[in-house]
Amino acid sequence: MKSVERTLLDRRSIRRYEREAITDDQLQIIYEAIRNTPTSYNGQQFSVIDVSDQAIKEQLYELTGQKQIKTCNHFLLFCADFYKITIAAADKGVEMPAFTHTADGLIVGTVDAALAMMSAVVAAESMGLGTCCIGYARTAAPEAISKLMHLPQGVYAVCGLAIGVPREMPDLKPKQPAELLIHSNAYTADDALLPLLRFYDGEIEAYNRTRAGAQTTNDWTAHIVGYYKEAMGYKMLEALRSQGYDPQR
Ligand SMILES: Cc1cc2nc3c(=O)[nH]c(=O)nc-3n(C[C@H](O)[C@H](O)[C@H](O)COP(=O)(O)O)c2cc1C
Repeated sequence: MKSVERTLLDRRSIRRYEREAITDDQLQIIYEAIRNTPTSYNGQQFSVIDVSDQAIKEQLYELTGQKQIKTCNHFLLFCADFYKITIAAADKGVEMPAFTHTADGLIVGTVDAALAMMSAVVAAESMGLGTCCIGYARTAAPEAISKLMHLPQGVYAVCGLAIGVPREMPDLKPKQPAELLIHSNAYTADDALLPLLRFYDGEIEAYNRTRAGAQTTNDWTAHIVGYYKEAMGYKMLEALRSQGYDPQR
């Protein structure tokens, strides 16, 4: 096992995998890490669908266009989940508030699912496995994926995670300097931010121009704003409503 420091600091997204399967022991450690995730109220407002069946992975690939899903060994779909507490409350005759109709309900479920995914990332990476988060599992075809995964009311896909034995070791991607990410005691929205953002744009532009594999001329700002433009077309509210979420406050 790698040290915590090396696990976290050497992590990078791995998008190509060997055919080799991950072992049952490795999978159990990933499951245990997921189970021990801290969650809001200890409500465990998440669940995970472990997709190892190749035919289902192929269908998810068709829906998302993300090749990692069909080439990885296990694809884990992390979902926000209020179905479990809803049936537990009904069983006890306890009235269930319409928490799924609040913005905080959405946030609570999404945060829990995202933290569980990070538990899986850290566990997998510490054992030398490769991982890639797949947000397109949420955005590309939400209703078709809910149907394929048989998600009941109260459950929606937050993010997928492809796991496999790494077949590549891409260069580490430069991240924003600590001054842009970590503020001391209070947010400092001062003139120092823009020069740091310009500096970081230059770093990403150089990385994209020189990295191994597909090279581009994008800087960070252009790259991210391009993604946001694409994301403006997503129909997430409709997809959430069809899973029983209707945030009103
Ligand atoms: C929530 C989330 C969703 C992501 N979705 C995708 C995706 O759909 N496809 C993909 O190839 N990478 C995806 N990524 C990986 C990011 O592109 C990657 O983490 C980022 O570029 C930083 O690179 P690094 O992970 O190598 O440090 C996602 C990452 C996160 C955290």
